Amino acid sequence: MDTASMVFLFSLTLVVCLRLSSPQQMPTELHNITEVLYLGSPFVQEALRRAVELTDAAYAHTNEKVKMSLSEGSVRPSDLLAQFKQTGPQTRAHIRAAEVLDNTVELIREMVYTHTHAHNMTMPNLTELLSAQDFETIMQASGCSSEMQRPICETDCLSDRYRSFTGQCNNRQYPLWGAANTPYHRWLPPEYEDALGAPRGWDPEHFYHNATLPPVRCVSQRVLYTHNENISLDSSLSHLLVEWGQWIDHDLGLTPQTPSTAAFRTGADCSRTCTRDSPCFPIQIPLSDPRTGIQSCMPFFRSAPSCVGTLPTRHRREQLNAITSFVDASMVYGSSDQSAADLRNLSSPLGLLALNPLHSDQGLALMPFLPRRQSHLDPCGPRPGQNTSEADTPPDEGNMTSCFQAGDSRANEHLGMIALHTLFLREHNRLAQELQELNPHWAPDTLYQEARKIMGAVHQILTWEHYLPRVLGEEVASELVPPYEGYTPQVNPSIANAFATAAFRFAHVTVQPVVTRLGPGYRPSPRHPTLPLHNSLFASWRVIQEGGIDPVLRGLLLSPAKLQVSDQMMVEELTERLFQAQGGLPFDLGALNLQRGRDHGLPGYGAWRRLCGLSDPSSEAELAAIMGNPTLAQKLLALYGTPQNVDVWVGAISEPLLPGGRVGPLLACLLAKQFRALRDGDRFWWQREGMFSRVQRTALQSVSLSRIICDNTHIRLVPPDPFIRTRRTEDLLPCTHPLIPLLNLSAWREPDTDPTCGSIPRIQPGYSLLCDNTVLYQCPLGFVLIGPSQVRCDPHTQQWKPAPPTCQDVDECAFSPSICPQNTQCHNTPGSFTCTEPGLASLSASSVAAAVVAVLGGAALMLLILTCYRRFFPMKSEHLWSPCCQRKN
Ligand SMILES: *[C@@H]1O[C@H](CO)[C@@H](O)[C@H](O)[C@H]1NC(C)=O
Ligand SMILES: *[C@@H]1O[C@H](CO)[C@@H](O)[C@H](O)[C@H]1NC(C)=O
Ligand SMILES: *[C@@H]1O[C@H](CO)[C@@H](O)[C@H](O)[C@H]1NC(C)=O
Ligand SMILES: *[C@@H]1O[C@H](CO)[C@@H](O)[C@H](O)[C@H]1NC(C)=O
Ligand SMILES: *[C@@H]1O[C@H](CO)[C@@H](O)[C@H](O)[C@H]1NC(C)=O
Ligand SMILES: *[C@@H]1O[C@H](CO)[C@@H](O)[C@H](O)[C@H]1NC(C)=O
Ligand SMILES: *[C@@H]1O[C@H](CO)[C@@H](O)[C@H](O)[C@H]1NC(C)=O
Ligand SMILES: *[C@@H]1O[C@H](CO)[C@@H](O)[C@H](O)[C@H]1NC(C)=O
Ligand SMILES: *[C@@H]1O[C@H](CO)[C@@H](O)[C@H](O)[C@H]1NC(C)=O
Repeated sequence: MDTASMVFLFSLTLVVCLRLSSPQQMPTELHNITEVLYLGSPFVQEALRRAVELTDAAYAHTNEKVKMSLSEGSVRPSDLLAQFKQTGPQTRAHIRAAEVLDNTVELIREMVYTHTHAHNMTMPNLTELLSAQDFETIMQASGCSSEMQRPICETDCLSDRYRSFTGQCNNRQYPLWGAANTPYHRWLPPEYEDALGAPRGWDPEHFYHNATLPPVRCVSQRVLYTHNENISLDSSLSHLLVEWGQWIDHDLGLTPQTPSTAAFRTGADCSRTCTRDSPCFPIQIPLSDPRTGIQSCMPFFRSAPSCVGTLPTRHRREQLNAITSFVDASMVYGSSDQSAADLRNLSSPLGLLALNPLHSDQGLALMPFLPRRQSHLDPCGPRPGQNTSEADTPPDEGNMTSCFQAGDSRANEHLGMIALHTLFLREHNRLAQELQELNPHWAPDTLYQEARKIMGAVHQILTWEHYLPRVLGEEVASELVPPYEGYTPQVNPSIANAFATAAFRFAHVTVQPVVTRLGPGYRPSPRHPTLPLHNSLFASWRVIQEGGIDPVLRGLLLSPAKLQVSDQMMVEELTERLFQAQGGLPFDLGALNLQRGRDHGLPGYGAWRRLCGLSDPSSEAELAAIMGNPTLAQKLLALYGTPQNVDVWVGAISEPLLPGGRVGPLLACLLAKQFRALRDGDRFWWQREGMFSRVQRTALQSVSLSRIICDNTHIRLVPPDPFIRTRRTEDLLPCTHPLIPLLNLSAWREPDTDPTCGSIPRIQPGYSLLCDNTVLYQCPLGFVLIGPSQVRCDPHTQQWKPAPPTCQDVDECAFSPSICPQNTQCHNTPGSFTCTEPGLASLSASSVAAAVVAVLGGAALMLLILTCYRRFFPMKSEHLWSPCCQRKN
């Protein structure tokens, strides 16, 4: 529980104590709220019961709807959008708790309201109506109590060395700062339409600063829309820079929407209704729109609330960030322990990530596939009507989709994203293997964590030192993001709502309408032609069938970014054809961004200018001066009435670019503010003293994205700086060129001796890791550790204390019941065992597995798998992957 709510509870207790003397009534109906009284438990129970009912009914309704539309065999744009936002069980649990709480609060208010004078619009303050007991009941029953519990943080050596997957305990004092499934931070308080957190523009007639808000689709059409052909190209930046922005965005934030696509109250299907009814917040299509006639609304779902903001008494709707805020490569590794484990190859002794067992990219790895949830739907497969070069062959196994599985659910969004995910998956495995050669005594977990730690640093360096100076301009970057001065635990590194919902979406206006794909030698190839952007969305199958990731990466390296120009903002691929699947109305990314900002209650443009110490325009002339463009100012004012109300995203991208940068002053301020917090508030920041040794930091300094491309693809010619536009292929350098430096990992070799205690005691078989002045031990599977799990260098005696442990073979044959099938004989071997039938050769391992499963069930199978893993450990490069370990049912 955060401090604010602790304070709140405390004050609530006070209130309760003071009130105890007043006559306590427990009415089931509330007749007169001018008197001081509590609602009473029956009232609260009733509200809770109905809230749970409403929430679960809407979820169930949604599932049915989805099944129905899937059985029709169609993929609607909203289905694809939902695919993005697929979240793990932790996130779903939190959302359900928050939604039950939210619905409870709303019901209580409604019940109170219907019992007050109908003409008096003043809502009663719930603090005064709920006893501490009622409050506790609501928090417990909704599930929010446990969601808001403060995690317990380890303080051992490893917890100073590796990040948690969830981001929890990065800050020891505020362990939830920056963690997954916590609300976005606010730099300015939200300005919702009402006290319950209704979005801005929920009532189209509602006045803000004396003006109503224009429909977002109008803004998109009048201000953003640009013909695909009519764009200007960036003279100096490559499209890979744009891609990197999105890649990092997927490291920083994911806003889950409610799992319900049906209205809580009525059960109406949000994707077919034009009625605003939580969580449906449909986007009206104006009459002037070429789209009218197809459908009068574009579906839109409110972002899920979080428990923290939904406290019944301090109600301020907050949205959830489902992933870690930190730049920690969480899109590669996942943001929960479970998803991290799902992505690993746990049977590999090298700490590798799992690879696709069915397909490869000319010998290089691809990501594994996601299992199919619905019987025949493959959102990432070829769709009828699309021009496929080969027959529509979904990836073999009927159980699998063509969607790739990665640490972030948006991995399949488009070909560029898939290419980067694949690239860094390979880079992890490359690093882990190289580390293993340097430190053969490291356990698989150590190899994995060390590779992950390097990957985190690589992402921080590429973002702060290569990406940000291009976006902000060198000068502004060094001014707004001054050199690192150490970890500052008072800085909250959580992603700000305005950053995720508005500021970091600036790059949408630099996206090209086409996906350029180039063959070897950077030549166009008929095998993988350049595609309109909308044909690249969710087209994972193309990676498998159309030449892997190299053509996409070559395209990103060689094609320029789109230049943001005030009368050419967003290409029609994004405003008119987003997720244009078969049937259904395509989405408009511009309108979605604006609506999202209103859903999150982001204050208008003027408030953000003031926050940044910039002028706050109050007239058209002042706005025109800021925009450097009277036509644009006039367009915006015609829509919004006042500069105050301009949605912050569109206002910010309308400002002229800073010298040498690609954003205006407001965006520069907001981006710099966030990236500074992400750096200074990160206990695992790569430059922090103690994170890496001085030699390691020096090695990391030379990190190059071009090198990573060289090391993990078939591409042999790269630009020295891949974020800079390359005009001629002659300017590309071979991977062997000194300007494409290798990442030399020799500084990661663990020393064999300690200056005080001498040679480091290692054990055989067994793993060890030197952490500060402690040696930590682990045994391979099939062995148990006998003795202490760590020894320490004692500076006085200059000896390691206590004596190091040994790894002792487990005698699996001594297990009861026997691990081998009946009528067979068990033979213990180091780290494993075999079963033989008297008179016959040893049983094939798979039949053993089958028999064991039949006899002993799951527990034995687990043990068997673990044992198998151990058996192959010492022979890593040979493929001794016998059927023993394949879990055939
Ligand atoms: C509410 O209570 C007050 C004071 O107890 C009383 O004067 C008033 O008439 C009551 N109003 C109603 C609608 O019961
Ligand atoms: C509405 O209620 C408030 C107190 O909650 C009271 O001060 C005010 O006079 C009421 N107004 C009307 C019109 O009843
Ligand atoms: C509700 O009442 C409590 C105590 O009376 C007060 O501290 C709090 O600020 C009030 N909240 C609102 C939203 O008026
Ligand atoms: C709103 O408009 C009215 C009439 O045009 C004006 O009198 C009033 O001052 C305006 N209010 C604000 C807050 O601008
Ligand atoms: C492209 O933009 C120019 C002005 O910038 C405009 O005159 C022209 O009509 C536009 N072309 C298309 C196809 O819209
Ligand atoms: C896991 O690693 C083992 C051994 O290194 C390898 O044989 C197997 O193919 C890998 N599995 C996956 C899914 O990557
Ligand atoms: C597919 O593309 C080829 C050339 O790339 C074209 O000739 C053919 O008409 C296209 N087919 C469809 C169905 O669009
Ligand atoms: C699909 O999965 C089921 C259960 O996991 C398995 O029995 C079946 O063999 C699989 N089918 C294919 C084609 O892989
Ligand atoms: C890496 O660095 C070490 C020590 O600085 C050096 O001996 C080694 O040759 C380097 N390796 C490569 C591949 O450059």
